[in-house]
Amino acid sequence: MTRDDRLPRDAQSILELAARSMFELFANASEGMMLVDRDARVVWINDQYRRFLPALGFEREEDFVGHPVSRVVQNTQMHQVLATGKPILIDLLTNRAGTFVVSRIPLRDGAGEVIGVLGIVLFDHPETTLQPLISKFARLEQDLSEARRELASQRRTKYTFASFVGSSAAALEVKRQARRAAQSASPVLLLGETGTGKELLAHAIHAASPRAGRPFVSVNMAAVPDTLLEAEFFGVAPGAYTGADKKGRDGKFKLADGGTLFLDELGDMPMSVQVKLLRALQEGEIEPLGSNRLLRFDVRVVAATSRDLQQMVAEGSFREDLYYRLNVLPIRVPPLRERRDDIALLIEALCEDIAARGGGAQLELTTDAQALLAAQSWRGNIRELRNVLEQLALRSDSHHITAAQVGAVLREAGLPALAPAQTAAPLRAAAGAESEGAQLRPLPEQIAELEQRAIALALAHTGGNRTAAAKLLGISRASLYDRLTSSGGLSEIHTIA
Ligand SMILES: Nc1ncnc2c1ncn2[C@@H]1O[C@H](COP(=O)(O)OP(=O)(O)O)[C@@H](O)[C@H]1O
Ligand SMILES: [Mg+2]
Repeated sequence: MTRDDRLPRDAQSILELAARSMFELFANASEGMMLVDRDARVVWINDQYRRFLPALGFEREEDFVGHPVSRVVQNTQMHQVLATGKPILIDLLTNRAGTFVVSRIPLRDGAGEVIGVLGIVLFDHPETTLQPLISKFARLEQDLSEARRELASQRRTKYTFASFVGSSAAALEVKRQARRAAQSASPVLLLGETGTGKELLAHAIHAASPRAGRPFVSVNMAAVPDTLLEAEFFGVAPGAYTGADKKGRDGKFKLADGGTLFLDELGDMPMSVQVKLLRALQEGEIEPLGSNRLLRFDVRVVAATSRDLQQMVAEGSFREDLYYRLNVLPIRVPPLRERRDDIALLIEALCEDIAARGGGAQLELTTDAQALLAAQSWRGNIRELRNVLEQLALRSDSHHITAAQVGAVLREAGLPALAPAQTAAPLRAAAGAESEGAQLRPLPEQIAELEQRAIALALAHTGGNRTAAAKLLGISRASLYDRLTSSGGLSEIHTIA
């Protein structure tokens, strides 16, 4: 108790009396008191405190008093009060003797120097005395851990290599490359048109990598406004902004620490962010916005893009140094039209998934209907195929799907409109959709493919009517029939017309 010289004498003695009464009140009402000196040594305990000694592991008082408090009381915070001079008025202390509600008050000398700390055990067995508070605390903790678990499960990958349907040579090669990439720590660059399964593969690579137990975090450059991307990546330091972000926010690099960071639509990343990303990858450190502290991170980067990055580098819209940094393990994911053999399998898998989610019966497509789908150019690839199947599931009263129904959905989706460009100039890349590589194939294969497309287009146009389709194509009905059966194992033909 420090003396206050501004008070008159009698007030001074009242104050001292008050202090003593308070001390006595605490000494009697509390479950125990202890005193440590400025070296954090226990110098005194009261009678009540003595009964905790066995539970703390001490038979004799001299094994406790006279020893550093941190050695005799686990998890004590007395030294913290010594160091800061600030009281901890209420706290929960848990150690081998149980859980206690405690209070720690610094003692000062006449000059105001901290010379020790008074520790008070306000309650033992807080689970009975503080029941409402404790149960509320337990409930909050439970909510928190549930929320954390939920978040972790969202960050866990949704797909494995088994989810990547396809047994064509092209599909198997992609899976082989991706499996190999999973074992490496280098960046992976997934290149391919939209809807080819790049995101699915990114998940699968993570799930098959040594980082599988850690987070998978994605950032989609096309979905986050340019101005927010930096904060999204690097986070915001507390107090950097006023308002909603006052508390600060972790960036995706931090969230992905120890795991995989998926940079989706990499080609859409603005130049300003490219510079910062490159620096972060080179240094292995990030600097949250508004902070001047560098944080180390450990992430494996998997990037994907449907843009031609090499072309962008040539045009100066993508940094060459960043391109080389990320283009360590490039994997080209082929478009659906380069692996038409997989379409039947994909239809099956997608219909199964759609039925499982929608709760309806699984669609069954006639062979004609499948042929019609197989012949499409599928610019939107598997995503587009899935949309068409979803439309069919929604619109059809029965789960049995005919070519006519497929033709109608394709027409409404504006899909056949893509085909004339191909029939008019079939061997020219359709609006850049087909690469040169796709054309450097045996001519009979290309001709067969062209035939298939023309037939599919005609069938779509006539709503599956073969007689009319044959007429449109200038061939006999029998010839059309022949071509349908000879193409890719159509064993069963449903006659529509
Ligand atoms: N090989 C595949 N097998 C099964 N589903 C696939 C396959 N590839 C893609 N999908 C599905 O197609 C949709 C688009 O795939 P996604 O990975 O998002 O493509 P991208 O990232 O290349 O645009 C998703 O619903 C995905 O599950
Ligand atoms: Mg994508």
